[in-house]
Amino acid sequence: MRLDKFICDSTELTRSLAKKALHRGDVCCDGEVVKSSSFKVLPTHKITLNGVELSLIGTRYLMLNKPVDTICSTIDEVYPSVLGLLDIEKVDSLHIAGRLDADTTGLVLITDDGQWSHSVASPKRKCPKRYRVQLADPIGSELIETFANGIELRNEDGPTLPALLEIINPTEALLTITEGKYHQVKRMFAAVGNKVVGLHREAIGAIELDAELELGEWRYLTEAEVKSVK
Ligand code: URA
Repeated sequence: MRLDKFICDSTELTRSLAKKALHRGDVCCDGEVVKSSSFKVLPTHKITLNGVELSLIGTRYLMLNKPVDTICSTIDEVYPSVLGLLDIEKVDSLHIAGRLDADTTGLVLITDDGQWSHSVASPKRKCPKRYRVQLADPIGSELIETFANGIELRNEDGPTLPALLEIINPTEALLTITEGKYHQVKRMFAAVGNKVVGLHREAIGAIELDAELELGEWRYLTEAEVKSVK
């Protein structure tokens, strides 16, 4: 890899700032100043910038327990972006795999791997997402079949795909859906005359929200979690 690219991929510097640092003599390879942008970096080389050793950042996969009043956008809008909760380098190169509403909490996956996030979020992949739902009014067991059969939502072409409803108590349930239509869970319950008063995503495919993570906390995914997304 060229030295200027190595600097960009291991710091927050743009290509032109990396070149400036090189020209200033701020960059060393194995203790010797190197000024050439095209210098070939080998795996055995120790590259430093102002005396600090650099290492490549690589592809990143994270889970975050989203708090309320944050949004799954890469920029701050009415509420701040969840990316602001990440105290890591190169946050700008990360994006969110599938959105949650501002008032929804729970599992959010964040990465810089576009293909991987497509597998999580694309409706064609039918990746199951499990939500814990708090309801304003009691639900009956007949709703299990209603949701399994699919229901019509306004302004949608066809019924929702079969969804799995597990009733925990009259006003709390787990709902697993394989689509991600706009406000889908809230609209499904609204369509049967109820109201979602609390919504928390617990799982995406085989990835379960880590119970150790408080709201607003995050961790890197394990290799097995990353690979569980096909
Ligand atoms: N369904 C909703 O209604 N809201 C979410 O945030 C996620 C799924």
